[in-house]
Amino acid sequence: MEKIRVELEERSYYIYIGNGILDGIGEKAGGFGFTHHIALISNPTVFALYGARVMKSLESAGFTVSEVIIPDGEQYKDFMWVNYIMGELLKLRLDRKSAIVALGGGVVGDIACFAASIYMRGIACIQVPTTLLSQVDSSVGGKTGVNHFLGKNMIGTFYQPSLVWIDIDTLHTLDEREFRAGMAEVIKYGVIRDAEFFEYLKTHKKAIDSCQPEQLLHVVKRSCEIKADVVSEDERESGIRAILNYGHTIGHAIESITGYTRFLHGEAVAMGMCHAAELARLSGLLDEGTVQDVSNMIKAYHLPVSSPEDLRPDMIIESMQIDKKAVAGSLRFVLPDKIGSVRIVNGLSDDLIRKSLIYKG
Ligand SMILES: NC(=O)c1ccc[n+]([C@@H]2O[C@H](COP(=O)([O-])OP(=O)(O)OC[C@H]3O[C@@H](n4cnc5c(N)ncnc54)[C@H](O)[C@@H]3O)[C@@H](O)[C@H]2O)c1
Ligand SMILES: [Zn+2]
Repeated sequence: MEKIRVELEERSYYIYIGNGILDGIGEKAGGFGFTHHIALISNPTVFALYGARVMKSLESAGFTVSEVIIPDGEQYKDFMWVNYIMGELLKLRLDRKSAIVALGGGVVGDIACFAASIYMRGIACIQVPTTLLSQVDSSVGGKTGVNHFLGKNMIGTFYQPSLVWIDIDTLHTLDEREFRAGMAEVIKYGVIRDAEFFEYLKTHKKAIDSCQPEQLLHVVKRSCEIKADVVSEDERESGIRAILNYGHTIGHAIESITGYTRFLHGEAVAMGMCHAAELARLSGLLDEGTVQDVSNMIKAYHLPVSSPEDLRPDMIIESMQIDKKAVAGSLRFVLPDKIGSVRIVNGLSDDLIRKSLIYKG
């Protein structure tokens, strides 16, 4: 089992990553001094697959576990379901020293830890992420939240978990498309912070693609290390944490125009990363060969390298402008200047952005 510390002073915690470690969650949670009653928040899909094992493990460690099940889907990551969870927690009489265990992908993790952050002004939460995206991204770093009809992820808190427990074995039941989408965030870590890891993803592609445990473990571990490092430096995204948004400015626009239904988040980010690499080239930061390296990597993991024909560059630019207004900031891009290094760039002309959106990979 691998162990990574997320260094955040009194909010520091560990991420544990292993193969088949799901049954060990109870013993680990037992060492935290939580009161005996734990709420296990999950959705029907994940609960059917792994709920019994997690419950048994927690019960063997002396906890009384009550499940709180929310429906499966991004559309349920909203206030109505937060309110539902609050009601269940109150009925269960969870107290301030109780804990919530979030078992599932990023949707469950985001809403469950948001609920934990506001129930009685904050009780402990434990993340047990079961999708690749949640294992390498959403479960680490303490961003929690829900969607509002006026904006995605607009309501939330910074609230660090007490522990993140990652069993990479759970990825075997994950839909292939979801797995590939998670790989987009993994590739992102290589581009923004670690050229050696980027190389590793190239040379071990076959093993990673077929979920070989040793390589998969390395992929999840290295991704978590990079995210943990960045978050330790800038917990609340006042500076460097923004580099995690590489590929996301354009990616979010693509998701938004297509109503969040046509592409998975990782797929949109994959396109966004290629367009951003091209934008870096057009801005004189990156050579053509490296743009190609990025897009070859995206292709190798069966992800799309450019936005579809029917999304005209102007539509994407307009959507980014609206997004920019929503957060009262300026249109900024995270652009690579080589593999393993990025910078944050403001004030690029619409013309240059438009040209980068014509890139076809
Ligand atoms: N908090 C953050 O920092 C952060 C970062 C990135 C994304 N997010 C959020 O994460 C969410 C997306 O997360 P996601 O991609 O994990 O999607 P998800 O939680 O919707 O999971 C995808 C699908 O896989 C199913 N599933 C989960 N684990 C499974 C398993 N092991 N086997 C079989 N099926 C399984 C789920 O039930 C769901 O149907 C979005 O809401 C996004 O906003 C948050
Ligand atoms: Zn993302």
